[in-house]
Amino acid sequence: MQYIGVVGAGQMGSGIAQVCAQYGYKVIIHDMSEEQLKRCVAGIEKNLIRQVEKGKLEENAIRPILGRIGCTRSLKEFQSCDIAIEAVTEKFMAKLETLQHLDDILKPEAIIASNTSSISITRLASNTRRPERFIGLHFMNPVPVMGLVEIIRGLGTSEETFSRARQLVESMDKEVAISADYPGFIVNRILIPMINEAICTLHEGVATAEDIDLAMRLGTNQPMGPLALADLIGLDTVLSIMEVLFDGFKDSKYRPCPLLTQMVAAGRLGRKSGQGFYSYP
Ligand code: CAA
Repeated sequence: MQYIGVVGAGQMGSGIAQVCAQYGYKVIIHDMSEEQLKRCVAGIEKNLIRQVEKGKLEENAIRPILGRIGCTRSLKEFQSCDIAIEAVTEKFMAKLETLQHLDDILKPEAIIASNTSSISITRLASNTRRPERFIGLHFMNPVPVMGLVEIIRGLGTSEETFSRARQLVESMDKEVAISADYPGFIVNRILIPMINEAICTLHEGVATAEDIDLAMRLGTNQPMGPLALADLIGLDTVLSIMEVLFDGFKDSKYRPCPLLTQMVAAGRLGRKSGQGFYSYP
């Protein structure tokens, strides 16, 4: 598997593209927005420079890595990709539209992987003509740092697709956790309700954002508090995942906190909008 297409140049897509290129794969990134593509490549370059400054990468490796990354606003350029990884916004209709375009454009033997954080792989796959070559590859944020990828088989995913996908992930030095196709898979089923509970704790005036994060950081040895993590993930994504859990399990324990809903409505999406539970000037 040599040529990888990544759809969506947001934080997940650019992280995935960076890691693929660092591990020697040729990559093409698609986004509708030229500006987003420019931001994505500039962000990757900045990350690579930081690695050089920390002595983790040779300076002369930067140019070849960047040289393996192409950008496009037309999905037609994915024709010769061996695998396309979809990392567009966590909305069912947006994903469906992208996946159906990919299905039309990709060569028949190519694999489509969705980086969905919670939507059913079987449901997405069944809207394409290649459910046997469709799989969930769920990377964690920030992709270059995190050592895990969840792999989710849809009902129709073939063994060959599974082993090709697993090989790809392991070739990029990441561990694989295999999850059944169930709402939220493993990580988000456990993590996102914890974040939602932290938001309820703030909403009910139990403690300040700073104290909630301090308590969880030092009290449970997590690298960052749940509210800071929500800002990193994006509050819109956190809300979408809670909605998928709520719809999928029909259980009130997954009800999104009203403060989360309000913050998303107000455009306070976390780091990407400059304001979430904290400010990012
Ligand atoms: N891109 C690339 N590298 C990054 C980065 C980014 N966005 N952010 C941080 N890093 C790198 C830094 O360069 C640094 O690298 P070195 O170790 O080589 O020096 C390393 O990560 C640590 O960064 P910092 O020293 O700046 O800060 P930190 O020690 O506080 O770590 C963190 C930052 C890695 C984000 C850490 O706080 C952490 O692991 N947080 C938890 C992240 C997490 O839980 N992610 C999962 C979210 S859930 C998910 O992704 C699933 C979903 O579907 C929503």
